[in-house]
Amino acid sequence: MEVKRININDLTPGMLVADNVYNSANQLIVPRDVVLTDKAITRMRFHSISSARVYISDEETTKTTSSRQGKPAREVSFFEKLRGTEEFIAFNNDFEKSLPVFEQKLSAMLKGTSDPDNDTLMNVVDDMFHSCRTGIQLFNLLHCMRNFDDVTFSHSINVSLICGVLATWLNRSKSETELLMQCGIYHDVGKLLIPKNILNKPGKLTPEEYALIKTHTTQGYNLLKDRKLPREVKLAAMMHHERCDGSGYPMGLKGNQIEEVAKILAIADVYEAMTSPRVYRKAICPFEVIRLFEIDGLSLFDPVYLLPFMENITQSYVGNQIKLNDGSIGQVIFINKLSYSRPVIKLENDEYVDLSKETGRNIVEIL
Ligand SMILES: [Fe+2]
Repeated sequence: MEVKRININDLTPGMLVADNVYNSANQLIVPRDVVLTDKAITRMRFHSISSARVYISDEETTKTTSSRQGKPAREVSFFEKLRGTEEFIAFNNDFEKSLPVFEQKLSAMLKGTSDPDNDTLMNVVDDMFHSCRTGIQLFNLLHCMRNFDDVTFSHSINVSLICGVLATWLNRSKSETELLMQCGIYHDVGKLLIPKNILNKPGKLTPEEYALIKTHTTQGYNLLKDRKLPREVKLAAMMHHERCDGSGYPMGLKGNQIEEVAKILAIADVYEAMTSPRVYRKAICPFEVIRLFEIDGLSLFDPVYLLPFMENITQSYVGNQIKLNDGSIGQVIFINKLSYSRPVIKLENDEYVDLSKETGRNIVEIL
């Protein structure tokens, strides 16, 4: 057993860390003598750490050396490549700086009745929003970096940014886009009043606990209702879990009874939750998320907003390499308008596969 410095791309869960791992701000990210997990490796990536010293057996030394000398053990994925870009590193730094601002400004609302520091919060998300070249680039950057201990604040930033992209895709004006981004900032503020042990409970919630979590909508509205904020922002906090078929909460509203901003925000909120990693699963592939929206999304969400959302996300992946559930690799060639999650694929052997006609095969990863 010897100690070696291993590149982040070669680190695997189960390796034993030999030295403390620090980020550029000298904060401890992974302590020595812990066994690496997927989560710890993702956390290191988030902090742009490129390598770590780990204990390595003779057998692993041979494997690592041969993989470095010869062909890499596996292809570097699209998202792994993106993590190495300057654009990602800058975005990541901005995000890290934004989190404590959100925490401080939103938590301050719990202590008094003064108006929130809306200008500061809007500036934070607006700067990040405009630092991205395209909407889909923003989605990809978010996909690479979601691994935070406090999900409420990172979720609020992410949803606000996704609302901004969706507003652009819906051809909304600058002021309408900003309004939707504001709705994203404040929509889950009621969660700050729910006990953390229930909010972050890893196991199944009891009916009582679930009922308590659902109150974050009304509690959020009550926190916002007398503050100097647009009426739509307050209603979005109240209504973002309502669904068009009446199956949502807190009031079971249907269709046009739900405020428009809440209907748009609901799509961003659900997409963000599904594409974020959880302790029990990795982030879900965008095509899989779109497939889930196709199954029952059109009755739950307003198709006027959902269809452009699905079309724009899938169109942006035309030309990307993907992996199918049978292990084959191919390239997205054409998006089927009647089945966004099942495009035409050109496989490595030059065979064309129309996934809309081959229902046994589906995309599991963007490479
Ligand atoms: Fe919520």
